Amino acid sequence: MSSDPKKIETVLTENRIFKPDEEFQKKAHISSMRDYQELYKKSIEDNLGFWETAANELHWFRKWDSVLNEESAPVYKWFVNAKTNISYNCLDRHLNSATKNKAALIWEGELGGQRTLTYNQLFHEVNRFANALKKLGIQRGDRVAVYLPMIPELAISLLACARIGAVHSVIFAGFSSESIRDRVLDCEAKLIITSDGGWRKGNVLPLKNIVDEAVAGCACVKHVIVVKRGQGDPFPCHIKEGRDHWYHRIIDDVSSRCEPEQMDSEDMLFLLYTSGTTGKPKGIIHTTGGYMVYTYLTTKYVFDLKPEDVYWCTADIGWITGHSYIVYGPLMNGATILMYEGAPNWPDKGRLWKMIQDHSVTIFYTAPTAIRAFMKWGDKWPNKYDLSSLRLLGTVGEPINPEAWIWYHRIIGKDKCPIVDTWWQTETGGIMITPLPGCTPLKPGSATLPFFGIEAEVISDDGSQADAGILAITKPWPGMLRGIYGDMQRYKQTYWSKWPNKYFPGDGAKKDSDGYFWILGRIDDVVNVAGHRIGTAELESVFVEHHMVAESAVIGIEHELKGQCLVGFISLKEGIDTTDDLAQELKEWIGKKIGRFAMPEKIIFSPDLPKTRSGKIMRRLLRDVASGRTLGNISTLADASVVERLKVKYEED
Ligand code: WTA
Repeated sequence: MSSDPKKIETVLTENRIFKPDEEFQKKAHISSMRDYQELYKKSIEDNLGFWETAANELHWFRKWDSVLNEESAPVYKWFVNAKTNISYNCLDRHLNSATKNKAALIWEGELGGQRTLTYNQLFHEVNRFANALKKLGIQRGDRVAVYLPMIPELAISLLACARIGAVHSVIFAGFSSESIRDRVLDCEAKLIITSDGGWRKGNVLPLKNIVDEAVAGCACVKHVIVVKRGQGDPFPCHIKEGRDHWYHRIIDDVSSRCEPEQMDSEDMLFLLYTSGTTGKPKGIIHTTGGYMVYTYLTTKYVFDLKPEDVYWCTADIGWITGHSYIVYGPLMNGATILMYEGAPNWPDKGRLWKMIQDHSVTIFYTAPTAIRAFMKWGDKWPNKYDLSSLRLLGTVGEPINPEAWIWYHRIIGKDKCPIVDTWWQTETGGIMITPLPGCTPLKPGSATLPFFGIEAEVISDDGSQADAGILAITKPWPGMLRGIYGDMQRYKQTYWSKWPNKYFPGDGAKKDSDGYFWILGRIDDVVNVAGHRIGTAELESVFVEHHMVAESAVIGIEHELKGQCLVGFISLKEGIDTTDDLAQELKEWIGKKIGRFAMPEKIIFSPDLPKTRSGKIMRRLLRDVASGRTLGNISTLADASVVERLKVKYEED
């Protein structure tokens, strides 16, 4: 959502309240606000005791000497000196119970093929692949990049890496070869796991070819493992002798038992790259023990999991939501997870609703951008299917506008399913501010209250507590990031330099008289397009790489479906004509270099960009121009006529 103050107003006039459905409430883990408040109070007063109790629900090879060590803050250490393995907690831990032969993963391909893996089968598959990775020389601490479509092998790859202590770095399969290369080089990955292709809207994405292009510039990559997605023959791709290996071949002659490495609580579990305000993506570091406890507990309470649930999170595992709430959290809780390969509108716009009906899905977790698309496609699609199995809905990724919330509640949830609007970030590892479905009265558009053990504040510019301002997290929590890979200075600067000992997530927020949090979107130059966080600075540097572009400024403005969309203001080099073809070429350029999801909606050519006297582009004014607002303060501009001309031009376009 943009920083448009008008929009904030309309969100805040929302005063409908939805109490939990009685049936739901009766069976919930936390079934009254009194229980929530009591446990919340305890979780803050005896914070470490609270996390210790949670950790005791999981398996450790060795327990901790202390729960938290703050000596090297802001690099906090959780469950100090404890030893564990998250794949053990996802798999082995269930093998002595009835969960053993329960479906862990039900997968549907875009073309309709299905695969089901029980916990026991998944255990064996992960063990085999872990042994195959070892056979290729992958050791504890090595980085492994994963570039796969939404197929079971993606989840298997994460778990296999975790089992042998290799650090996975998943790259969303919509990224370009250049984006892959940047990420692979940054973490010096030794191996990449990909596939010959994946289905999306009836087309095959040539993932292996994209990886080939990326790897050409990466001396660190010694091996590429290729999952065969093509049925019968593989999709056309080149296999380089010695470097490339078919997944089905290398898992063929290895044992299906691989002892899990006993990882230190603070050993790195994974890296996940996310956008920052300066050009380069940040490799967010998550470690083993704290992340494990945090995703386990949040999944248990926020999704109120029961053994009979069929849980479906529609995110891609390439994003943090998929890491925490498709793979790790649900598996540690012994849930049955539904996973889907393809597009929501393939072969028609009823696909997701048909899948809910066919698999009797009980919990459905998606993003506001998707909900807005469903609304646009029309009620007739969900209305064609029996959605009565659903008992709980969730959203994540950006603020949900109340209209979309109400539609989701009525048309999908049939007025009986609570909606958990979960606020969190790649950096936080798991859900931070959220309703608990069996007790929290819901207000559409509000992520409501902090999770157990989490203390949040809204702080004004001068550092005092306020009703509206910037969100801060004032206590460390186990799921927190431990740094930015290769750049601890940037870690401290980005998240911990605004206030002493408080974490700065970079979001604006308001707190109402009930203590509910209303998240207002990013306050920096990071935009949130269709749930993907994109650094505008990163896009600007890509624009400037184009031989005709002199300078660029990228901003996000509100978009009906995507939440935000991108507008690129471009100033061309001398003597180059502005044409529609060139605008299109520049959009495609971003598509190619970053990925299609980041393509700007609009390109505006302008000979000059509005700048301060010190030469900083004033994106705030560009946002005013693009949203048709009156211009804000222009007194610091070097040349005020630039922005006036731009405004006229924008309105003409
Ligand atoms: C935004 C996704 C409002 C927010 C898990 C945050 C939200 C950024 C919500 C993180 C929500 C996420 N309400 N805003 N329920 N959930 N956001 O790292 O701006 O991809 O800082 O993590 O998304 O995006 P990320």
